[in-house]
Amino acid sequence: MKQTLADLAIYGGPPAFTESLYVGRPNIGDRKLLFDRLEQALDRRWLTNQGPLVREFEERVAGLSGTRHCVAMCNATLALQIGARAMGMTGEVIMPSFTFVATPHALSWIGIKPVFCDIDPRTHLMDPTHVESLITPATTGILGVHLWGQPCAPTSLPQIAARYGLPLLYDAAHAVATRWNGRPLATLGDATVFSFHATKFVNAFEGGALLTDDDGLAATARAMRSFGQTGEDQVSHLGTNAKMSEASAAMGLTSLDAMPEVVARNLANHGRYLSELAGVPGVRVLPFERGNNHQYVVMEIDERITGVSRDTLRAILTTENVNCRSYFAPGCHMMDTYPGSPRLPHTEAVSRRVLGLPTGTAVSDLEVIRVCEIIRFTVAHGHEIAARLRSGSAARTSARPLAPTPR
Ligand SMILES: Cc1ncc(COP(=O)(O)O)c(C=O)c1O
Repeated sequence: MKQTLADLAIYGGPPAFTESLYVGRPNIGDRKLLFDRLEQALDRRWLTNQGPLVREFEERVAGLSGTRHCVAMCNATLALQIGARAMGMTGEVIMPSFTFVATPHALSWIGIKPVFCDIDPRTHLMDPTHVESLITPATTGILGVHLWGQPCAPTSLPQIAARYGLPLLYDAAHAVATRWNGRPLATLGDATVFSFHATKFVNAFEGGALLTDDDGLAATARAMRSFGQTGEDQVSHLGTNAKMSEASAAMGLTSLDAMPEVVARNLANHGRYLSELAGVPGVRVLPFERGNNHQYVVMEIDERITGVSRDTLRAILTTENVNCRSYFAPGCHMMDTYPGSPRLPHTEAVSRRVLGLPTGTAVSDLEVIRVCEIIRFTVAHGHEIAARLRSGSAARTSARPLAPTPR
C-alpha cells in the first residue's frame, strides 16, 4: 500500500509487484488435452493442409458463431486480405482509424486505400454517420471493427452497406464468441474475421478465420488460403498460403474447451476494475454490454481532471511492474504509412486517454485490487506528480524504457 509519493517505484519505492503483470498474457487451457491432440496429429503424420483438427476447429467455431462456414487461417491479417479480395474490394475501403494497425495494413498490403473514419468517443466504435459521408464512387467496401468485442453499429452499418450496394466485412479480432442481444456478432455483415493470436480470447498460438453464411464466398476463401487451388491439379484463383496448421488447431480446440473458465475470470476482473475505480474523478472504465467476452479492460484518464496524463500513469504503473497498453496511439491515420489522411478529432482525443489494463487468467482478483490502489493513489496525487514532473524532479521513468508486452 502506497502511503506517500516516495513509496511509488518511480520515486524509488519498491515495485508493487515482483512478477510483472501484462495485458494479453496468453490463457493456456488444459495442457494434457493439448498434448493429447498434438500426439494424435503426430501419430497420423498429418500436420497441415486441412487436417482433422483444423476441420474440427472450423466446425466448433462456426457453431459458436452461428455461421454456416468458418474458414480457418494462419492469422487474422491474412484472413482480412483474403476476405477483402474474395469480396471484390479494390480502390478505397472505409474503416476506423482507432484500431490495431493490422486492420488498415492488411488492406493496404493488397493495394487498397484505407479511408479512415472517426469514432463515437463514448464507445470507441466507428461512427456510421461519418462512414456514410465518406462514401464516394471509389468506395468498394466497408470494414467495420468490433472493437473491444463490442458490436460496431450493428443495425446502421449493414443498412448503409445495403443502401449503397457495398460489401461489409467485419474485423472481429476482439470479438470471438461475443453476442449482441443474444445474436452472435459474426452473423452481422457479409463476412467476419476472427483472430486467434496468442493474446486473444481464444488462442491458437497464431490463427485467424473468415466466417460467413455465403457458400460462394467461403469456397473462394478456402481456395485462396491454399494457393488458389480448388483441386489437386486445378488452380481457380490467385491465392496465397494462409492455412492453419494442425498444431495451431490443437491449441485452438484446447482454448475453446477453456472458454468458460476464461470468460469467468475476465468478467470477474472487469467487474472488480469497475467497482474499484468507480467514482475516481477523471477515470472511466468502459462498461461492456452482456455478451462481451471481456478480453479487454479499457480505462480512460482525463488529464484535465487528474493532472496526470495517460502516459505518466502508464510510466508509473510500468515501474510498479504493471505493464499496460496505450491503445491505439496514435490513431492509424496519424502513422507515417498513411500520409495526408484527414484529421479525426475523436480518434485523436481518445487515443491520448486510453490505457488497456492487465486481465485474463494470469491476473487474480487481489492483483486487480492492488493495481487499482496504485491508480487511485496516483490520481489522488495527480497534480503534485505533474508539478514534480514539470520541475524536473528525478523519476526513474526517464532511465527505464516502457517494457515490450504481448499485444
Ligand atoms: C483489431 C485487430 N485486427 C486485426 C488483428 C490482427 O490479428 P492477427 O495477429 O491474428 O493477424 C489484431 C491483432 O491484434 C487486432 O487487434
